[in-house]
Amino acid sequence: MDFEEITRRGLVLLGCGKMGSAMLAGWLDRGLSPDAVHVIDPHPSDWLKSTGVNVNEAMPEAPAVALIAVKPQMMGDALPALKAMGGGETLFVSIAAGTTIARFEAEFGADSPIVRAMPNTPAAVGRGITAIIGNGTATAAHLDAAEALLKAVGQVVRLEDEGEMDAVTGVSGSGPAYVFHLIEALAKAGEAQGLSPALALQLAQATVAGAGALAEQAEEDPTQLRKNVTSPNGTTQAALEVLMDEATGFPALLNRAVSAAVKRSKELADG
Ligand SMILES: NC(=O)c1ccc[n+]([C@@H]2O[C@H](COP(=O)([O-])OP(=O)(O)OC[C@H]3O[C@@H](n4cnc5c(N)ncnc54)[C@H](OP(=O)(O)O)[C@@H]3O)[C@@H](O)[C@H]2O)c1
Repeated sequence: MDFEEITRRGLVLLGCGKMGSAMLAGWLDRGLSPDAVHVIDPHPSDWLKSTGVNVNEAMPEAPAVALIAVKPQMMGDALPALKAMGGGETLFVSIAAGTTIARFEAEFGADSPIVRAMPNTPAAVGRGITAIIGNGTATAAHLDAAEALLKAVGQVVRLEDEGEMDAVTGVSGSGPAYVFHLIEALAKAGEAQGLSPALALQLAQATVAGAGALAEQAEEDPTQLRKNVTSPNGTTQAALEVLMDEATGFPALLNRAVSAAVKRSKELADG
């Protein structure tokens, strides 16, 4: 399935909030015709109305793809609008955190191809990372189609098993908030050393963004990059001795943080 088939048969987007809008903007940028897109959303934004896509109008009977981007707690209200599309013709893709493939199979039938995806918020600037897993009916072509759509907002990785979704949620799904907090904490530490709040925040923000970009672009892995900037007995080493402390440093702290997120993800999936 490619953009041509999607253009011919249509794409339904259920829920067009932050994530739905980011994806829609990516598809339109990549040349998908607005005519092919049918959005269902109770309160369409001005931006959505300005795109020229179909909003809350009659749906195609068997669109190529139905993409579910409503909050997990809205599923019960929202999914019936798509029920008639179940049965095999339409590929369902869900980005809802914690809503299992089994939940969608119960709604649309196990004979429907279903891809569950876990994106993250940098999708808003095209720099997200999304993990995907298909149900038993989803073919390689279905996964390729889901990947092509989700690539509009960043990288896509494939999982072997739906059980990995909880760990993915704990690392990349919730991860941007950990990094935002790192920026906050680094800025506060700068303030404590006498910098103005604005300057400390600018330094912290640019440092995290710049180091992230360098880590992605450099040929060396993060361990080597760290070593490259750590001269013996220098300033960086003094700080790293604190951060790399086995009991109280980053490794132990992040292990606990990610474990807590994974535990919560499992609880939410179990209802
Ligand atoms: N944001 C993230 O970082 C992130 C990361 C991973 C996964 N996700 C998943 O992505 C999904 C969307 O998240 P989001 O941040 O984009 O949420 P959002 O901004 O709240 O968007 C959800 C949209 O769905 C609309 N909606 C509510 N009820 C509906 C219904 N019955 N039919 C159709 N549309 C309905 C909402 O309209 P109203 O606002 O008018 O109610 C809103 O526009 C969630 O399931 C979330 O778990 C998000």
